Amino acid sequence: MANEEQQQAWTVQGTDWVDNAAIFDAVLAPFADAVIHAADIAPATRVLDIGCGSGTLLQHTAALGAVPFGIDISETMIDAARRRAPEAAVTLGDAQTADLREPNGGASFDRIISRFGVMFFDDPVAAFANIHRAAAPGARLAFVCWREGDNPMFAAGIDVLAARLESPPPALDPSAPGPLAFGNAERVRAVLADAGWKDIALEAFDGVCDFSIDGSDGVEERLALILANRTGQQARTELEARLGPDGWAGVVEELREELRRLRVDGVVKFPGRTWLVTAIA
Ligand SMILES: C[S@@+](CC[C@H](N)C(=O)[O-])C[C@H]1O[C@@H](n2cnc3c(N)ncnc32)[C@H](O)[C@@H]1O
Repeated sequence: MANEEQQQAWTVQGTDWVDNAAIFDAVLAPFADAVIHAADIAPATRVLDIGCGSGTLLQHTAALGAVPFGIDISETMIDAARRRAPEAAVTLGDAQTADLREPNGGASFDRIISRFGVMFFDDPVAAFANIHRAAAPGARLAFVCWREGDNPMFAAGIDVLAARLESPPPALDPSAPGPLAFGNAERVRAVLADAGWKDIALEAFDGVCDFSIDGSDGVEERLALILANRTGQQARTELEARLGPDGWAGVVEELREELRRLRVDGVVKFPGRTWLVTAIA
């Protein structure tokens, strides 16, 4: 089966995203706004969100009076999206291989959008060709993906834990399916062109990832995301066993201190460097 590894990974990681939905919503808000703005969504248009996760863009789409459809490979995410956006038609499936028009009664979509949901395909050209088949002639595609180069999202504070591990998880591989797979502009252009998309445009978009919620300094929020990710989970298992509960608590305190040092204007925040990508079917 295509994308089996990602399906398994996101079924597990989905729990982290759903448990920490309020934090992800705050931190990734600028990227939702950027996609929605670039998609130029009119009322009553039919909008498909690829890798819709727990439903943030579905909610935005519904608020604009458009008709939201979502697809995601993770059952955990889909369950959360159905709770969060009950007005949306949400499908559990692989966007690379599913008949995307089926939930729309066989009709095509006017807009296809995604926030960080399109970088995980085994075969990106096949996936974007499948997405193209679901798009009406002249339909607009708009998505954000992480840009290559320095992106603190994947390092800030995580490095403190990685330094304590004998075999930390390998660095994210930009040549494999994963968050950094669409970092290179030429690769993104080639994938979309080979899949039949026209008028492809990439704009560097730097949103601020701000971890503050309700006036907090964002330290506990960033800490929660780090402890839930693969390095955080490995660190907890290994270091708690090696150092005991008090030793592990000391490491967490050290990480908290590092996050306090990273605050800017009293808040944990840093740039999220992305590509805002648009194309026409
Ligand atoms: C980084 S999360 C983003 C979730 C959501 N778009 C958001 O911004 O909150 C990536 C999402 O893509 C989904 N995904 C990964 N591969 C997929 C595939 N082949 N088909 C559909 N969804 C996929 C994951 O399950 C996950 O929900």
